[in-house]
Amino acid sequence: MVVSGRAGPRDASAAPGGPSRRTPPAFVELYEEIADCPRCELARTRSHTVPGAGPAPAEVMCIGEAPGQREDELGLPFVGASGRFLDQLLAVAGLARDTVYIANVVKCRPPDNRDPALEEIAACAPFLDRQIAAVDPRVIVTLGRFSMARWFPGEAISRIHGRAKRADGRLIVPMYHPAAALRNGGLRPVIEADFAQLPQLLEHARAGAATSAPAAITHAAPPAAPTTSTTPAGERLL
Ligand code: URA
Repeated sequence: MVVSGRAGPRDASAAPGGPSRRTPPAFVELYEEIADCPRCELARTRSHTVPGAGPAPAEVMCIGEAPGQREDELGLPFVGASGRFLDQLLAVAGLARDTVYIANVVKCRPPDNRDPALEEIAACAPFLDRQIAAVDPRVIVTLGRFSMARWFPGEAISRIHGRAKRADGRLIVPMYHPAAALRNGGLRPVIEADFAQLPQLLEHARAGAATSAPAAITHAAPPAAPTTSTTPAGERLL
């Protein structure tokens, strides 16, 4: 559905959500398009679009769910409490945030932080497709069930978190959303252990790219889960 929304100004080099001097050239036009996007209802209620942040290309890309209040104010992803925790998790993996590209499934805040609707996710999908193509990451970390569903439809995050699968020449690693661990302290060691595997997975992805060798990964399986299994769609998890 097309609605006329409050989009950001077109020439907004330093405006929240629009391109800035730090925006990779590959994304200048895209961020402008997103800032003007009227494709779904979220355009009516957003303060600013939140296209994404980080370099392109980048070896690692994290994909969350949707902007929250702070992100909507600043036009930047993961700048609230979840973002601070995400920084700590990236540090566990030896990654600085400014080396990682970070985006969300939807680029506008759902009112009252409700879940994004299927039609909102679908309306935003072409933007995410273009981001993935430009970032060309070796490893995609999905944060939470909405980004996970793109590659693992019908799966339960409690079953497959931390277990990578290969898709389109990349490793896709489903992880819990940082906010889930902030709400449920019991998940904290789980998500930290999953992030701790990232360096090994990245090495694996680099080696795979160099040799096209079949996947043979040795990272630790999550507790009480088999080391290999298939998704409901029959795809093999590493
Ligand atoms: N949660 C998300 O999924 N994305 C953000 O940008 C912030 C919180």
